[in-house]
Amino acid sequence: MSDGKVYPVKEAAKSRALVDKDQYMAMYKESVDNPDAFWGEHGKRLDWIKPYTTVKNTTYDRNNLSIKWFEDGTLNASVNCLDRHLAERGDQTAIIFEGDDPADSRHVTYRELHQETCKFANALKSQGVKKGDIVTIYMPMLVETAVAMLACARIGAMHSVVFGGFSPEALGARIKDGGAKWVVTADQGVRGGRPIPLKKNVDAALNNPEVSTVEKVIVVKRTGGDIQWQEDRDVWFHDIMADASVDCPPEEMSAEDPLFMLYTSGSTGTPKGVLHTTGGYMVYASMTHEYVFDYQQGDIYWCTADFGWITGHSYILYGPLANGAITLLFEGVPNYPDSSRIGKVVDKHKVNVLYTAPTAIRALMAEGDQYMKQSSRESLRLLGTVGEPINPEAWEWYYNVVGDERCPIVDTWWQTETGGILISPLPGATDLKPGSATLPFFGVQPALVDSDGNVLDGATEGNLVILDSWPGQMRTVYGDHERFILTYFSTYPGTYFTGDGARRDEDGYYWITGRVDDVLNVSGHRMGTAEIESALVAHPLVAEAAVVGYPHDIKGQGIYVYVTLNHDADPSDELKTELVQWVRKEIGPVASPDLIQWAPGLPKTRSGKIMRRILRKIAANEHDSLGDTSTLADPSVVEDLIEYRENA
Ligand code: WT7
Repeated sequence: MSDGKVYPVKEAAKSRALVDKDQYMAMYKESVDNPDAFWGEHGKRLDWIKPYTTVKNTTYDRNNLSIKWFEDGTLNASVNCLDRHLAERGDQTAIIFEGDDPADSRHVTYRELHQETCKFANALKSQGVKKGDIVTIYMPMLVETAVAMLACARIGAMHSVVFGGFSPEALGARIKDGGAKWVVTADQGVRGGRPIPLKKNVDAALNNPEVSTVEKVIVVKRTGGDIQWQEDRDVWFHDIMADASVDCPPEEMSAEDPLFMLYTSGSTGTPKGVLHTTGGYMVYASMTHEYVFDYQQGDIYWCTADFGWITGHSYILYGPLANGAITLLFEGVPNYPDSSRIGKVVDKHKVNVLYTAPTAIRALMAEGDQYMKQSSRESLRLLGTVGEPINPEAWEWYYNVVGDERCPIVDTWWQTETGGILISPLPGATDLKPGSATLPFFGVQPALVDSDGNVLDGATEGNLVILDSWPGQMRTVYGDHERFILTYFSTYPGTYFTGDGARRDEDGYYWITGRVDDVLNVSGHRMGTAEIESALVAHPLVAEAAVVGYPHDIKGQGIYVYVTLNHDADPSDELKTELVQWVRKEIGPVASPDLIQWAPGLPKTRSGKIMRRILRKIAANEHDSLGDTSTLADPSVVEDLIEYRENA
């Protein structure tokens, strides 16, 4: 495979950037040769209450696993995002809010954000929240969402943000797992001009007798739409804010005290509560934000993610605010009122850095250049992408049309688990190759291993592991440390296994090829095939289901579902529609199956394991390369499936 075109570092990017190629290489070497000295120095980018005296204390030995950074230091994340900026830039904008409605926007200064955060922190206390408690946040993209997250950090409570697109069932499962007693939500969200019934979804989630821990639901009034109210449980955000004091001394947190948890899908079982702690996470989120986006004071920075994902945590909120940045918070969607929106928001707020996802880029590209050309985008200096491999065509379009050939693109590879960016170009240092996330960030030691775990050298392809810890790494799966060790440190002992495959070229550049496990990446949203399967088999007419990904032009991967029905069920198109609705209700619209195929039987090994490899090939219409089918218990099912596929 050819590596295609190379885009050398641009002079304009190099002349302003923190590091050039030589400096990157020198710093990288120092960071892996002497991590204690390197991170000991860079940890000082934060304000510590009690400075740390130890830096790295980690071992990947699975019998003895321990990941601790800056462990004897104390600090508060909200102080690092707010208080410490007040003297120098209290009146500078912290957040630019751009509403769903293009006429709706406002600027919030660091001083205002600090005040609101302190007030809501006191309001949370008045509702009984204490250090170490969990607060579930199920919100649209509002300034109040940022306030709620920062207020939790201020008083040492863990937030658990649940994406507003998730269904009541999915929300309920996440509340139940952590046992939160508080939920912060809004009456309704608004996206693309349409109301999203958040409070109604919370009511439905809490109606489930198994979701029994919640005592208070705090409701932000966003639309004023009709909602049900439960007097003893529901409180208005504005009511408890009204008499809250603006004075809220921050909780002194140990570096290794939890900051938040965030659920993500694995290849098996229910979603995992990924737990991040305070010190290492904040050092890593802020440092990567500064270096990868070459953030300098006054830059207007826009990450289009949602707070419901890790990108929203690290690169809308914590990283940028720790750096005293101006961060744009967008309530809406890229195609409302039409597909010119992103470009118009860039022009309106003079955005310098735009960070978005390949799926959004492909969707805009499919609409045609004329929408993008309705804006000048002359303020842009840097573009970023995250969430899935970006195909070179989409990369070129982003580069040529959105960035007018002027802006470098940082293709940032990372995961919910990694807390921050692990592999990415730096704009002043790294020559770009479309489709490659390029080189590791400081302190990150990627390696490729074969299926036996042997580390491979040179230009090659394999399973992507990381050989040693970095400060932003997750510390545990909430409530299930065994699962943490088993999932990440047992496949290739002594390393952190990412679940991704990758190729490395002659220049040492990494090309992520996608998940090698049963995790799907649909429009940059991560989903376990097991979750979707268990939703399907919960339907009374479904006997068995198998879910695989298949190539999809816009979404990257689409969801392909094989369903075996009960004997008495009629395999009709109506039933297919019903099953799509069923999955949407069980998990949420992000999990909607794209294609359902009736399967009289599923290909299984003699021990009963479904051979997904074969199902993936059939879904991708690659019938000729099914590979070895001799271990199948009944090889004829494959013929049946191919026939059904052709008639589907
Ligand atoms: C998975 C992690 C990191 C925040 C968003 C997703 C895929 C992510 C890239 C990229 C190729 C990428 C990987 C990874 N991924 N960024 N730049 N190039 N693949 O976080 O939901 O935890 O998903 O997303 O497969 O393992 P996540």
